[in-house]
Amino acid sequence: MDYKITVLPGDGIGPEVVAQALKLIPVIEQKEKVSFSFEEGLIGATAIDQTGNALPDDTIEKCKTSDAVLLGAVGHPKYDLDPTAEVRPEQGLLKIRKSLGLFANIRPVKTFPVLDPISPLKDHLLKGVDFIVFRELTGGIYFGDKGRNADRTEAWDHCNYTAPEIERIARMAFETAGKRRGKVTLVDKANVLETSRLWRETVQKMAPDYPDITLDFMFVDNAAMQIILQPSNFDVVLTENMFGDIITDEASVITGSIGMLPSASVGEGTALFEPIHGSAPQIAGKDIANPMATILSLAMMMDHFGLGKSAEDIRNIVSAALESGMVTGDIKPKDPKRTSEVGDWVRDRLHQSIGESSFRPV
Ligand code: IPM
Ligand code: MN
Repeated sequence: MDYKITVLPGDGIGPEVVAQALKLIPVIEQKEKVSFSFEEGLIGATAIDQTGNALPDDTIEKCKTSDAVLLGAVGHPKYDLDPTAEVRPEQGLLKIRKSLGLFANIRPVKTFPVLDPISPLKDHLLKGVDFIVFRELTGGIYFGDKGRNADRTEAWDHCNYTAPEIERIARMAFETAGKRRGKVTLVDKANVLETSRLWRETVQKMAPDYPDITLDFMFVDNAAMQIILQPSNFDVVLTENMFGDIITDEASVITGSIGMLPSASVGEGTALFEPIHGSAPQIAGKDIANPMATILSLAMMMDHFGLGKSAEDIRNIVSAALESGMVTGDIKPKDPKRTSEVGDWVRDRLHQSIGESSFRPV
């Protein structure tokens, strides 16, 4: 079996964290008796600098014809400081999601006990935290009609959803809950928003098809509190695009470092895997960024390919790295390891897991 992967390193720390995940590929090839081939594409500020476009057509084409996409990060501060910039790095990310029909963004949030001391939450709240957010990714206010009036003193962003858009991601959430602790929490703002009422109505109608799943509802403002107060109560969280963006950043700090959280975006076309963190330009190129979120995103890609053993091994090795202090400065400011050292360590351990000694570093 040959898998074709498009790699989009992107901006800031993107290239260096992606490079660590790619170190695992030759080992996985040996382990699973499969092969991978790669193509690189441009996205984000890097793509704007080189082509004037945050997502050149050629990148879309490469992604569409591959089996998976591995993305680093997108964003550059020079655009954040200029609200009038017409071409922005983030447009590349939104466009690739839309072009590939990636309607479900899956963000697992799981604590690692050894990181409890650096979590902003108290230890007793961290036990048993293990939930997955299903964030709708190609609809809602992100993609609705937006604009300004003639003298530019008024602006609007419309939020739209259709029942089929809600059903397809809700189905994934219900099915995933069936393989976990059997609970789906729909996060919305149905006391105010019509789109949220459509979400509730649609999801409620589907519930009888999943008699073993407990469905509950939570307003997003309350959910923002509950994620901090009782994070272990969540199993599968289902929500629309912007609420999902906000609560997953909030959830990401529970583990102690945003540098630990992977994600998968799936839907109609090629699936895309990326860390949740941004491009962190202030630390880019210094070999100090945490590569674990990207390494764990690669593990999600392996699951997606049905290479579950490798995915599990990678996750176990990441836990072992945390326990051995093989971590970057966001986790251990005293005596931090370098990005590349962490990548080498994970690769070598993965290699040992197949019990071969002839491994040559790539
Ligand atoms: C994310 C990011 C993006 C989003 C930005 C960069 C467009 O914050 O993946 O969560 O808002 O979806
Ligand atoms: Mn975000």
